[in-house]
Amino acid sequence: MTVPPDLGRPELEALQLERLRATLRAAYQHVPHYRRAFDEAGVRPDDLASLADLARFPFTTKADLRANYPFGMFAVPREQVVRVHASSGTTGKPTVVGYTQTDVDTWADLMARSIRAAGGRPGDVVHVAYGYGLFTGGLGAHYGAERLGCTVVPVSGGMTERQVQLIVDFAPRVIMVTPSYFLAILDEMDRQGVDPRSTALEVGIFGAEPWTDQMRRAVQERSGVRAVDIYGLSEVMGPGVSQESGETQDGLHVWEDHFLPEIVDPVTLQPVPDGEPGELVFTSLTKQAMPVIRYRTRDLSRLLPGTAYPTFRRMEKVTGRTDDMMIVRGVNVFPSQVEEQILGVEGLTPHYLCVLTRPGTLDELTVQVEAAGPPDPGLGGLLAERIKQRIGVTARVEVLAPYALERSLGKAKRISDRRQ
Ligand code: DLL
Repeated sequence: MTVPPDLGRPELEALQLERLRATLRAAYQHVPHYRRAFDEAGVRPDDLASLADLARFPFTTKADLRANYPFGMFAVPREQVVRVHASSGTTGKPTVVGYTQTDVDTWADLMARSIRAAGGRPGDVVHVAYGYGLFTGGLGAHYGAERLGCTVVPVSGGMTERQVQLIVDFAPRVIMVTPSYFLAILDEMDRQGVDPRSTALEVGIFGAEPWTDQMRRAVQERSGVRAVDIYGLSEVMGPGVSQESGETQDGLHVWEDHFLPEIVDPVTLQPVPDGEPGELVFTSLTKQAMPVIRYRTRDLSRLLPGTAYPTFRRMEKVTGRTDDMMIVRGVNVFPSQVEEQILGVEGLTPHYLCVLTRPGTLDELTVQVEAAGPPDPGLGGLLAERIKQRIGVTARVEVLAPYALERSLGKAKRISDRRQ
């Protein structure tokens, strides 16, 4: 199970159809929310004759999970749920997710598969710096690395000085961490005079937040660590829904034997063909405790044919969420576009924050970015020029001294909305 099943596309689709039918039936039978939603849409699980029929079923959103807080989306008696996780979100109640023992096992298998696809091997020492707790990152990585047969160092996030010491002393070959916190660890190595290239680290499995290919190049160059993308979300499972191959580094293979991806137009909500951009939607195919039907992720991507694992489609690196789209005088801008431009200016670092204000009637964007050394305001002019030319918006740039911005131990905060 730590490798993907050796199936051709038609066999995979047959398996998906069978699993999808069972999932729809369980959801309809055991989760009042799905029964109501299917009834309202006038569809029954048995209406599913082909995978394309899934488009007739209603979407599920974070609001649905909140409305059924805490355990209303479970399809099994609470006693069979061996674990819960929750994601905090910015407002209101957290969304709660649950797992049966079988779900926890499947998740460990898929994470083992992911770590292996990234370049991890049985016997590796794996340093896990994703947060442990209600967040799925730490425990998800932990169980997967154990399942693969690795020696796991469960550090969690924080105490950055000690992270460096453990990397030096325990010599992990693999590190699993958010890309932004990895940058903080690299900064701490600089401070301590530790050359990242002198450590045993070879593979970084980075996810939980958007990061660009420019960031990948910068991190790889600076650390000598191969930077590989991992994607997932609590509502669908946690990390390990899709994984980039460490060999091809060309987007993330969706583990389609367990999750059915769709891309929909975020406005019309109609499915779009493979290759077209839109919002990612996932349906779980094997989850017992909390099946999700057509869960709207708000993440933007495209589906592409498989490469390293030809049967499994890839999703393009997620570079934005619909929620993170800033509209600056009519132009849509994502923080990742700003990140790309920052990494094109020598002397600036990818520690940045997009600040939105509305001093009069129009929105203004200020990019706060740390310099690598003493702040040179000339760099701000260069960045503002690039942003104007390549993204098409006017931004004010504030070049800050190193370490001026707050470091996050987990997901980086990229937008500060200070509009009234
Ligand atoms: O972040 C699960 C995870 C943990 C994934 C560790 C990878 C590594 P949530 O806290 O529920 O779960 O947040 C899910 O994070 O909808 C995306 O917006 C974002 N996200 C996760 N991975 C990536 C990635 C975990 N590789 C939300 N690239 C998702 C871009 C990502 N965004």
